[in-house]
Amino acid sequence: MEPNNSFTITILNDRIVIWRSEPGQLHGLQDRCDHRLAPLSLGRCEGERLRCMYHGLLFEPDGRVVEIPV
Ligand code: FES
Repeated sequence: MEPNNSFTITILNDRIVIWRSEPGQLHGLQDRCDHRLAPLSLGRCEGERLRCMYHGLLFEPDGRVVEIPV
């Protein structure tokens, strides 16, 4: 299962999640959450951002975490 507007590819044994944000740009990150390594490909696109659905960290397209739910 993958979030809307996204897919995964493997490059040199690294899984990459690629998603198209609502403005239409393509973004890519390693398909591994910084928190507990859950696949971000199971996440949800929120505007340009991607949310990990395990504990809810929200990632900018450059990989920065901008929200940590309490
Ligand atoms: S594993 Fe992604 S938020 Fe915890």
